[in-house]
Amino acid sequence: APANSADIGVTGMAVMGSNLARNLARNGFKVAIHNRSVGRTEKVIENHSEDGQFLPSESMDDFVASLQKPRVAIIMVQAGAATDAVIEELASRMDEGDIIVDCGNALFTDTRRREADLRERGLHFVGAGVSGGEEGALNGPSIMPGGPVESYKRVGPMFEKIAAQVDGDPCCTHVGADGAGHFVKMVHNGIEYADMQVISEAYDMMNKALGMSAPEIGEVFEEWNKGELESFLIEITAEVLKHKDNVTGKPFVDIVQDRAAQKGTGAWTVQTALDFGVPVTGIAEATFARSTSGSVKQREAAIGVLPAETQDQTVEDRDRQQFIEDLQKALYAAKLVSYSQGFDEIAAGAEHYEWDINLGDMAKIWRGGCIIRARFLNHITEAYKRNPDLHLLLADEYFRGEIASCIPAWRRVVAYAAANGFSVPVFTSTLSYYDAVRSERLPAALVQAQRDFFGAHTYRRVDADGSFHVEWTGDR
Ligand code: ATR
Repeated sequence: APANSADIGVTGMAVMGSNLARNLARNGFKVAIHNRSVGRTEKVIENHSEDGQFLPSESMDDFVASLQKPRVAIIMVQAGAATDAVIEELASRMDEGDIIVDCGNALFTDTRRREADLRERGLHFVGAGVSGGEEGALNGPSIMPGGPVESYKRVGPMFEKIAAQVDGDPCCTHVGADGAGHFVKMVHNGIEYADMQVISEAYDMMNKALGMSAPEIGEVFEEWNKGELESFLIEITAEVLKHKDNVTGKPFVDIVQDRAAQKGTGAWTVQTALDFGVPVTGIAEATFARSTSGSVKQREAAIGVLPAETQDQTVEDRDRQQFIEDLQKALYAAKLVSYSQGFDEIAAGAEHYEWDINLGDMAKIWRGGCIIRARFLNHITEAYKRNPDLHLLLADEYFRGEIASCIPAWRRVVAYAAANGFSVPVFTSTLSYYDAVRSERLPAALVQAQRDFFGAHTYRRVDADGSFHVEWTGDR
């Protein structure tokens, strides 16, 4: 490829990388492309009409030389060691002020380490979260770039152009320094876990308590997608539930094994939340629900063996509609709690790492392109506009009202599930959190007293400052 001629480069021509490159090319940028093995690069040139905008390179030397200065090279390879290897290959060929962008799913602590290392060497490193899967990468993802603000001046306009657009605004903004972009992407994925799980819990209740078939439940989700729950995940759920298996003609979902896989971003979100002491109970239960589904040996030991002792209440015909409406409200309430908890985690991360994250903007750039895109995200943006110091999303006046109208239904769903033996971990844990966080006095007082008893951990009094301790052994 001719030297200094490409606006930007992408290395890693698997599906995500080639789709990002095609998206850039379609938006008028000259894109240098490269892959470790030349075959993938050749396929991109052969199969895609954007080839006029592509400048392919077989070698790293040629790839780096083909970029206009200050150079911008996007890496889209496997997270972990492969990313480190490619960063080194690029960095050793780059000059001061050049920018390396990692659009892979890196753990934010890796991004922080890489950014610090490259900064020492005079290079900029931007860890950018990219959501929306293959389709998003090609047609407009949600992009969450971190890294130095200076580098955003160079990469921001290009990213904003290729990102999804909602109401004239790009689903991309500078999130914060070093690992902030990948941190926010991580929490986004955690929230996605919770969203998917609550949807599945509502499906499960309709299926088991009401005996509805998958396509019938699909109709319900289609209706729900016209209201406050309108979102990509509800929309695809309706489509999935109506889908028939080609081989058997049965509803597709009925022939799928009930063991959920995970790539780890949900677990990262929970692990990080544990480190900070942020109760992301909805996300945690959603992540553990996948683990429970995959606990094959334990399930085998339990199925048909553990007693249920359920009440076996049937839903009367006249109450079916009410039950479905209750599920809709429970789903909405549980979702609001999961998001509120997720935003708590972002706020905690921002405080700990001194990232200047605008929480309202995060909801704004999730409105399009990404998997959790949804109508209600607008209300999160507005809530943080109304009150930039909002400490609890649920306490915002709009969300307070929304949740108030859901509470009776939410309680009925959780109570019914408990009495009749249905597992609804996210419905239940989010309600339990809701009741705890609004509670004037928590039983943590007893926990503190116990800790003072066996470990002399001391306790604080409600009526005086300082730490106190009781000589318990004398009392026994
Ligand atoms: P897929 O997404 O199709 O499963 P993958 O095996 O996950 O592909 O690899 C994703 C990309 O990372 C590929 O472009 C791969 O390069 P190759 O086509 O040459 O295999 C790239 N990749 C993985 N490890 C790499 C490394 N150590 N150095 C450079 N590129 C690497």
